Amino acid sequence: MLSEKAKCFRPSPTLELAAKAKEMKDRGEDVISLTVGEPDWPTYKIAADAGVKAIHDGKTKYTPPQGIPPLRQAITGLVKDLIGVSYAANEVTVSCGAKFVIFAGFQALLNPGDEVLIPAPFWASYSEMVELAGGKPKVYLTKVENRFKMTPQELKENITSKTKIFLFNSPCNPTGIEYSFDELKGLAEVITAHPKLAVITDDIYNQLSLSEKGISPHILQVAPNLRDRVICVNGMSKAYSMTGWRIGWATGPKDVIHAMASYQSQTVGSSSSIAQEASVVAIKNCQQDIIKTRQELRERAAYAYEAFSSIDGFTVLKPDAAFYLWINIKPVLHKLNLNTAQQFAAKLMNEHKVVVVPGDEFGDSNYIRISFAATRKDIDGAVERIKKMS
Ligand SMILES: Cc1ncc(COP(=O)(O)O)c(C=O)c1O
Repeated sequence: MLSEKAKCFRPSPTLELAAKAKEMKDRGEDVISLTVGEPDWPTYKIAADAGVKAIHDGKTKYTPPQGIPPLRQAITGLVKDLIGVSYAANEVTVSCGAKFVIFAGFQALLNPGDEVLIPAPFWASYSEMVELAGGKPKVYLTKVENRFKMTPQELKENITSKTKIFLFNSPCNPTGIEYSFDELKGLAEVITAHPKLAVITDDIYNQLSLSEKGISPHILQVAPNLRDRVICVNGMSKAYSMTGWRIGWATGPKDVIHAMASYQSQTVGSSSSIAQEASVVAIKNCQQDIIKTRQELRERAAYAYEAFSSIDGFTVLKPDAAFYLWINIKPVLHKLNLNTAQQFAAKLMNEHKVVVVPGDEFGDSNYIRISFAATRKDIDGAVERIKKMS
């Protein structure tokens, strides 16, 4: 019955693990889950109220597939504030979360067999989406000594005649690492020298920089000349704590945005009208909430870093942004006679009821990713249980 294609479908491992943890919790088990990449604080009140108001005001019908004009307008203002680039409303498309927007981008850009260069560690869904769109993921494992950032030399060496897209995620899930302006300049020079290369930047964490400035550097800030072949993806999920509202967008060259919007219109149609209305209000009014969130995340990052670093055999990468810790557990794997982080994560879940995401999912089986969008009680509890195990 199933198509050849369907045989390759894999559910998102992170969502699956989170669901497993929830199932265990629902059965009454004392589970600590540090898996899922979403804020543990509510959607800001002003945005939630705007959603309720939208329902009462009857904003409950189909919208243009690329998003309502006020939202596209608000997005152009936000993008201008964040990365200093001006876009017209027809250079913006809105859809059901950044995830689907990225997929629409692949659909708009990839011919069969085209390669997408993905620096690893990388967000697990990229490679699956490239394959579903008929392309070939080409994963390059970056080096720990470079804090998992791709160098200009590495980028140059990995672009081939088949490379159609460079997929760039800064701040990065799972490492929490962001590139500096100087590092971006180096990459931009290589990209400039390859005029057929398109770039998708996944900027979903760029308002959650732990730096004083609070906003991560962007490649278009150092190389505005690349504007015509960079597609910037962002959304409401992380900085606005609106994961369930499913609003993401892309800004970029008109022809690509138009193709993405056409693809959206024939597949998901428009995204939720209610969520779009709430997003307009959130983008315009929640900057103070985001500032508070960043301060909270800075404190949590410091706390979680210290806590997990105190575990024997754990080496924790200090994050620049977002809410993840990327932890090398190789010595612990040796000690426990395990080969992969996947085996470690299974043992930890089954025997100690702590759920983490194995690095295998992100391209490196010597690592685990934990999310510190969690309470201190959960962080402390997880550390205590892991210490007992290792
Ligand atoms: C790097 C990265 N990009 C995109 C997304 C998807 O975001 P959205 O909820 O907007 O689909 C995630 C979610 O975890 C992510 O980590």
